[in-house]
Amino acid sequence: MSQLLNSSLARKYVMALSGLFLVIFLVLHVTINLASVLSPDFFNEASHFMGYNPLVQFIMQPILIAGVIVHFVMGFVLEAQNRKARGSVGYTRYKGSANASWVSRNMIYSGLVVLAFLGLHFYDFWIHEMAYKYVEANPEDPTRYYAETVEKFAPIWRTVLYVIAFVLLSLHLWHGFASSFQSMGMNNKYTPGIKRFAKAFALVVPLAFAFIAIYHHLNPITH
Ligand code: HEM
Repeated sequence: MSQLLNSSLARKYVMALSGLFLVIFLVLHVTINLASVLSPDFFNEASHFMGYNPLVQFIMQPILIAGVIVHFVMGFVLEAQNRKARGSVGYTRYKGSANASWVSRNMIYSGLVVLAFLGLHFYDFWIHEMAYKYVEANPEDPTRYYAETVEKFAPIWRTVLYVIAFVLLSLHLWHGFASSFQSMGMNNKYTPGIKRFAKAFALVVPLAFAFIAIYHHLNPITH
């Protein structure tokens, strides 16, 4: 196992696999969140199901958190390794933009912004949710999620921070999603089509998240 993780190829593979897993999570997350715009009742139902189903809470949620941790820890390891490699070949051989795009060279920075966003996001939603259910032990209320979500976007500062993070998420996915197939050794006649799909995904999904945040900011619940 340790030998496997020592190989740079294996590390790239783990990075690609955990990234693809997180992409699947994003599809589910953006779909449920879009319901907060299209159908508040469905959003409440779906959120309640996700929040109280034992399979989701005690199996899928820990796997998701493990996926996030594996992805960012391995990201740091790969970055450190790349810096070392660049150091040893010297600047004459590593010509930056001549060899790789700006986005691909700055994956660590776009990733760090997404990580910082996740810190704020966990504080905003997840910690509140854990405290509500497991610390305060409040009774189940399947109708509360919509209002709680909309209220989060009342302050302009949070809406702006979220939108900035979604722009960086888009850049991160733009390179990461498309190159994950290459990292896993895929190279056939479908590869160009898959890459085009990955780039479209990198634009559409963060745009949908930004739309949701801005929509709730502009349409507060009036009591
Ligand atoms: C407008 C955009 C977004 C909204 C309104 C939103 C809303 C939420 C809500 C309501 C929860 C549920 C907390 C809970 O019940 O446990 C949640 C959890 C979460 N969100 Fe988001 N989210 C947004 C964007 C994102 C993005 C872009 C990412 C990833 C880059 C993300 C990652 C997560 C993660 C990892 C969780 C924890 C899931 C879990 O409960 O295990 N979210 N979000």
